[in-house]
Amino acid sequence: MTSLATCDRLTVRYPGAARPALADLTLALHAGEKLAVVGESGSGKSTLARALAGLLPVGTALSGAIRWSGPPPRPGRDIGTVFQDPGASLDPLLTVGAHLVEVLRAHLPLGRAEARARAAALLARVHIPDPERALAAWPHQFSGGQAQRIAIALAIAAGPHLLVADEATSALDVLVQAEIVALLRELCRDAGMTLLFITHDIALAGTLADRVAVLHDARLVEIGPAARLLAAPREPYTRALLAAQLDLASPRLVGTRP
Ligand SMILES: Nc1ncnc2c1ncn2[C@@H]1O[C@H](COP(=O)(O)OP(=O)(O)OP(=O)(O)O)[C@@H](O)[C@H]1O
Ligand SMILES: [Mg+2]
Repeated sequence: MTSLATCDRLTVRYPGAARPALADLTLALHAGEKLAVVGESGSGKSTLARALAGLLPVGTALSGAIRWSGPPPRPGRDIGTVFQDPGASLDPLLTVGAHLVEVLRAHLPLGRAEARARAAALLARVHIPDPERALAAWPHQFSGGQAQRIAIALAIAAGPHLLVADEATSALDVLVQAEIVALLRELCRDAGMTLLFITHDIALAGTLADRVAVLHDARLVEIGPAARLLAAPREPYTRALLAAQLDLASPRLVGTRP
């Protein structure tokens, strides 16, 4: 298995923070895999996503290393990012088409007409109905799920080989969440893209990812194939995380049936 990137004892400390947000983390991101990173709030998931995507705030102290298999990736070009709130990636003052054209032309040598055609194709690719019409529409005219599809179109516009999705489905209801997960799976399969999928939902991670990494308190607890990790977690913390989520997902209806 060739690795796309390797974190080697990666430690990240935000400016002024008393403790590192990631401590001594060693893991390989395999080329073409879908790796989910799970853990409770504050465990360092987004920090790992930002570190890999080159989006850590200025002044953040980094030790250890991130090694890339090829030349260092260019954020936005070789790495696409999608976040929880599509509103954060979609500029409310730009039509969807203007935004896509801007991103495409920032990264690729395209003329305006060419970029516009490419933008329509991208919207079709993320299954936005009537792409031509959608190009002329404003972000607020779309539902949350559709807006997230458009945010994904922006993220993949420049043809990245790594897509980092940080809680990209967390704000959506379960049906829409399943649709977005299916879309991510399809895009990765068709483009051979590597996916880093950040989620607090270990069950969801299991449905999408090839491998799952569990973070707790800035440290890597366990990493392994998704099916194995969910069926037979090795670490007590992973077992506790799974048990907590399964309890939430299927509340017992004691006494409601005869
Ligand atoms: N910009 C920042 N400046 C200072 N501390 C930060 C910053 N961003 C995150 N942290 C801290 O770093 C730690 C890890 O945060 P991170 O955002 O990576 O967690 P997370 O696992 O993504 O949590 P969540 O599930 O809530 O998104 C937390 O203690 C957090 O408070
Ligand atoms: Mg986060």
